[in-house]
Amino acid sequence: MKQMLAGVAAAALIAGSAQASDVEVLHWWTSGGEAAALNVLKDDLAGQGIGWVDMPVAGGGGEAAMTTLRARVTAGDAPTAVQMLGFDIKDWAAEGVLGNLNEVAAAEGWDAVVPAALQNFSKSDGNWIAAPVNVHSTNWVWISKPALDATGMGAPTTWEELIAVLDAMKANGITPLAHGGQAWQDATIFDAVVLSLGDDFYKAALIDLDPEALGGDKMVEAFNRMATLRGYVDDNFSGRDWNLASAMVINGEAGMQMMGDWAKGEFLRADKVPGQDFVCIRFPGTQGAVTFNSDQFVMFDVASDEAKAAQLAMASSVMNPVFQSAFNVVKGSVPARTDVPNTDFDDCGKKGMADLAEAGGSGRLFGSMAHGHSVPASIKNAIYDVVTAHFNGEYDAATAAAELVNAVDAAK
Ligand code: GAL
Repeated sequence: MKQMLAGVAAAALIAGSAQASDVEVLHWWTSGGEAAALNVLKDDLAGQGIGWVDMPVAGGGGEAAMTTLRARVTAGDAPTAVQMLGFDIKDWAAEGVLGNLNEVAAAEGWDAVVPAALQNFSKSDGNWIAAPVNVHSTNWVWISKPALDATGMGAPTTWEELIAVLDAMKANGITPLAHGGQAWQDATIFDAVVLSLGDDFYKAALIDLDPEALGGDKMVEAFNRMATLRGYVDDNFSGRDWNLASAMVINGEAGMQMMGDWAKGEFLRADKVPGQDFVCIRFPGTQGAVTFNSDQFVMFDVASDEAKAAQLAMASSVMNPVFQSAFNVVKGSVPARTDVPNTDFDDCGKKGMADLAEAGGSGRLFGSMAHGHSVPASIKNAIYDVVTAHFNGEYDAATAAAELVNAVDAAK
C-alpha cells in the first residue's frame, strides 16, 4: 500500500501535480479468468481514485485488438493505455507515437527488477515505453486429473508417452485434445511442437528464420506431429474460443489442452485445484525450456497533463510488487519482476516462476512466435497462415515446410 501511494505521488509530481484523469484501456481480456484478473487492476486503480473506461476487443492473442488500435490511432484518438505483446510494441515505438515512462521507472528502480528479456520490449532507444504486467508461457499442457487417472498412466514426459495417454483417453470415450481452430491457437501448439524438437531448432526456425530450418526434415517432422495431434481433436473444433476448449477439460468432456498459462485462470475461476483436479506439465520434450510472452501496458503520447498523470499512476500500479503478485495469481501468469515472492502462488504458478528463472539462467528462454515475441507481426501472420492451412488438411507436411520457407521469405 505504502509503495502504491508512493507511486501515485511520484506520478503526480512528474505530471506537474495534475489530477489524474480516468484511464481508457484497450485490451482483449474477455474470458472469465482474464476478466477476473483485470478486476484486480481496476480495483487497484479505483482505490487511488482513478476511473476505468473499458475498451475490450475480444479475440485471444489480440489480433482483433491490434486492428481496432490501428483504427483508433489513425483517427487521432489513441486510448490511454493498451495491452500489447512484444514486437507490436517495437512496431508502434518505431512510429514515434508512444509516451515516455522514464521518470516513474527511474524513481521506482524498474531497471534492476525487470528481466532483460522483457526490457527488450518495454524500452525503446533506452526509454521506458511500456509497463510489463506479467510473463506467460506457451509450452504448457493442462490435463484433467480424473481423465489422466482413468488412463492408469502418469503425466507424459516424452512425445511417445503423450501419444499413449491421448490414445488411452480416446479409448475411454472422451475427446483427448480440446482445441479451438483459430490460427493463433494452432500456432500456440506449433510453438511447443517445434520446441519439442530441440532448442536449437526452435531458435533457428522461429527466431532466426533460417530457411534450412524452416524447410528441412525437422520441420516436416514438426508438421507430422501437428497432424498427429489434429487426429485427437473433436469435429467441432473450428472457430472455438480457447476458453471454451479449457471448459471442455474442466467439465471432463476432454482430456487435455495445449495452451499458455492463461488457461489456468479458467481452471481457477471454476474452483479447480492444481494437482487435485488438473495437472500442469510442460509440453513433453520441452522441460526446462520456456517460450514466453509478456503482456505490457503501452502508453501512447497524450496531450493533457491529467492523462499523463493517469498513465504514470497506472504504470506505477502495474509495477507494484504487491499488485504483481495479486494479479498474476489470478491470471495464471507469473510476475514481470524478479523480486516478487512466490508465497501466494499455487503449485503451477510456483513451477512457472521456477521454470522461468531456470530457463533464463540456462539460455533456454525463447520468445513465443505465436504470441508476438519472436518475430514481427507481418512474419508471424505468414507463419500462422501456413500452420493453419496444414492443420486443416490443405497441405501435407512436406508441402507445409516448403510453403513456410516461401511465406516467411515473402513477408520479410
Ligand atoms: C495472449 C495474452 C494472454 C491471454 C491470451 C488469450 O496473447 O498474452 O494474456 O490473454 O492471449 O487471450
